Amino acid sequence: MENFLYYTPTKVVFGKGTEKQIGTLVKEYNCKKVLVHYGSGSVKKSGLLDRIYASLDEAGISYISLGGVVPNPRLSLVYEGIALCKREEVDFILAVGGGSVIDSAKAIGYGVTNEGDVWDFYEKKREPKNCLPIGVVLTIAAAGSEMSNSSVITNEDGWKKRGCNNDCCRAKFAVMNPELTMTLPAYQTACGCVDIMMHTMERYFNQVENMELTDGFSEHLIRTVMKNAKILKEDPENYNARAEVMWAGSLAHNGLMGCGTDGGDWASHQLEHELGGMFDVAHGAGLAAVWGSWARYVMDARPERFAQFAQNVMQVEQGEDAAKTAQKGIEAMEDFYRSIDMPVSIQELGVTLTEEQIQELADKCSFYEKRTIGCVKKLDREDIYKIYQAAR
Ligand code: NZQ
Ligand code: ZN
Repeated sequence: MENFLYYTPTKVVFGKGTEKQIGTLVKEYNCKKVLVHYGSGSVKKSGLLDRIYASLDEAGISYISLGGVVPNPRLSLVYEGIALCKREEVDFILAVGGGSVIDSAKAIGYGVTNEGDVWDFYEKKREPKNCLPIGVVLTIAAAGSEMSNSSVITNEDGWKKRGCNNDCCRAKFAVMNPELTMTLPAYQTACGCVDIMMHTMERYFNQVENMELTDGFSEHLIRTVMKNAKILKEDPENYNARAEVMWAGSLAHNGLMGCGTDGGDWASHQLEHELGGMFDVAHGAGLAAVWGSWARYVMDARPERFAQFAQNVMQVEQGEDAAKTAQKGIEAMEDFYRSIDMPVSIQELGVTLTEEQIQELADKCSFYEKRTIGCVKKLDREDIYKIYQAAR
């Protein structure tokens, strides 16, 4: 097991009706004015936004609102939010939505409290020193941003999707009522389940031995999400299944599944981020589309690890040959993705790639040959190109 630092400062308020506590929760921060940040309308339609305003009113908290966050959240709205917060002297941001809204809130929080262009934190990896305090009301179990140290933003200038990881953006609290996720379209529920599994798998596929406890947590978390994703496909209003998936979403990305690892692989996420930036696809679906091709490409670097995954997660019977068992595990995972109507190729994702576009994806993902991605096998531009080719 590797040394690690486990830091999860986010207060979790989980369960039915918990959004009614918003006023009381925000009040603890003695803020002057709150920005309520939300997406493209689902929270208006469901009536959630009105309930939140009522709770803030009741607690005597003044607030302003900024909606309009889209999936693969845009830098232009972040700039707008920064200007608004400065003008209105906002000192707390309440994100009501999913990963896109929370990530946009984090970026605005960076922009308000640090000098210079906020995009530098994403593109040039300049380190933010501070962030406005963020609170979350989660409406989709997926990205795990409610407890993660991460924020991913898309710059329309060049359609680049880039992430910034820093502990100062971690949410102060996250209100998680699984009932709020019952209005999700089936596609978004499935995308969320893939993302949660992938956050666990990215950490699970690493170069470390002897992690009994973390491996056990991870394997069980993935199996739990698979089981409940299938239940939700048939019965989207099943509270217990919604609750299992929602809690899994946070645990998959709050650091717990990475304790004792070397950080994990993360190549599939990097491959997806370019697809999301260029083609505006849903993150979870993009991950499902590339994972199998990634797994086949790197499997021979750690066949035993892939065989362990096949047996303990995908219930593949142990064979004599680790590589064959590993291969069966990858196929079984692709079958699972198909069973919840997720794509297993970029074509199935709805994108027909030209040769030029594959070259562009490989250029962008390798930062024009300035970086490699992944740790199971370090992938350079040529490797990245071949994986996109195989996944097309
Ligand atoms: O905008 P609205 O109208 O709210 O609709 C959203 C959006 O269209 C809808 N939705 C959300 N909750 C709903 C609902 N519709 C009906 N009922 C509800 N209760 O779902 C759609 C997707 O929302 P989004 O926030 O984009 O989903 P998700 O949570 O999957 O976030 C995806 C973004 O997070 C990034 C992704 O790259 C992507 O940009 N990620 C962020 C991470 C982080 N900060 O730690 C880690 C992840 O790996 C990921 O990269
Ligand atoms: Zn993800």
